[in-house]
Amino acid sequence: MTTQFPKGFAWGTATASFQIEGATKQDGRGESIWDRFAATPGKIITGETGDPACESYHRYPQDIALMREMNLNAYRFSIAWPRIVPDGDGTINEKGLAYYDRLVDSLLEAKMTPFATLYHWDLPQKLQDKGGWANRASIDAFVRYVDTITSRLGDRVNHWMTLNEPWCVSILSNLLGEHAPGLHDQKIALQVAHNILVAHGAAVRAIRKSSPDAEVGIVLNFEPAYPATDTEADRIATRLAHAKYNEWFAGPVMGRGYPQDAWKDYGKDVPEMLPGDLETMAASIDFLGVNFYSRMVCHDPSGGMGTKILNQRNENNVSARGWEIYPQALYDLLTWLHKEYNIPKFYVSENGMACNDKIAADGQVHDPERIQYVKQHLEMVLRAIDAGVNVQGYMCWSLMDNFEWAFGTSSRFGLAYLDFQNQKRFLKDSGKWFGRVAQANTLVD
Ligand code: FCB
Repeated sequence: MTTQFPKGFAWGTATASFQIEGATKQDGRGESIWDRFAATPGKIITGETGDPACESYHRYPQDIALMREMNLNAYRFSIAWPRIVPDGDGTINEKGLAYYDRLVDSLLEAKMTPFATLYHWDLPQKLQDKGGWANRASIDAFVRYVDTITSRLGDRVNHWMTLNEPWCVSILSNLLGEHAPGLHDQKIALQVAHNILVAHGAAVRAIRKSSPDAEVGIVLNFEPAYPATDTEADRIATRLAHAKYNEWFAGPVMGRGYPQDAWKDYGKDVPEMLPGDLETMAASIDFLGVNFYSRMVCHDPSGGMGTKILNQRNENNVSARGWEIYPQALYDLLTWLHKEYNIPKFYVSENGMACNDKIAADGQVHDPERIQYVKQHLEMVLRAIDAGVNVQGYMCWSLMDNFEWAFGTSSRFGLAYLDFQNQKRFLKDSGKWFGRVAQANTLVD
């Protein structure tokens, strides 16, 4: 069994603009749907907003210092659309562009490869006012924004990720209402899912023009589905959950279109399509970013056609967020994607664990559970590589504790601890360990 990761393997961490930058009203940044959502009472359990978050808009040199301490050679961050185009469409904000210039230049100076995500959820509020992603005008606005930022940074950034987690952008945000804009409408959610995948494909084409040598991909979140029992009802429930959660997004991107059984199950709520959409969504990509945290276990108590899907997790083996720890699913996922879609290259673009971290008497944060989690998942990456899957990088979520969406700063995922009272950041035990792994390019104790 392989013990070394491939030569040149990208060792990094991942963050997102709204979760770390703060400075939401500075230097001409426009309002995003997350500013509006977080300011709405009851939406964020801690009552916090995106200010100050980690103040990375000003403290990014400290962030880079942490990454250097961990010997990392890659950094996945996201660009805030409302910093670049405050109204979503129209005037470009030079100060916003200048911020990402500084960030990228500093990363390159520190010998780190920038992986830039173009959309990690901070849609300009002005676009939401006109229907958001459910309005196809947002597709064109996105392409113009993408063209602006990739033309500006394309001489230095060679890895672009169009969208982060379309399932969250659509279902979690527009059907389940847990994320901005907080809607509860399946028809809208499925139209959003469709339009953003069209926007992804259109953006890929735009980037091919502005940066012909760059690698372009998309980041999808997956939850492999397993039946709770070996009954036919549970198998059907599992199949449908897999189709709705995983294939609904991977299928169109990989040129397979939508899974037919899920399409049928959604009935009249299926999205409207224009001729050419399926071709656009299937624009050829260089890599797939895989975000993986947990699995689904599906059970249909009605014994019927699997429309009722319950998640039966093993409650004894969960993270501080209640997500079951099941590393085997990462191996199953990577090998399935490899076989099913023949994907040329993968990055694990997010994987990590929320823990109830506390500063110990010695002033350090001891987080053996997180070390174990990351280690077990890296073992699965090695197994997948052994099985012929071309995985070229692993980006741990996250560099540091940050504004974890609806959970505010109460849910800590960082390899570095952040003291939100004074913004001090320092490596947890897991960060120190991850740094040794990155340096050795193999798993260490
Ligand atoms: C993912 C998001 C990321 C972070 C982690 C914990 O779904 O992409 O921003 O919230 O979960």
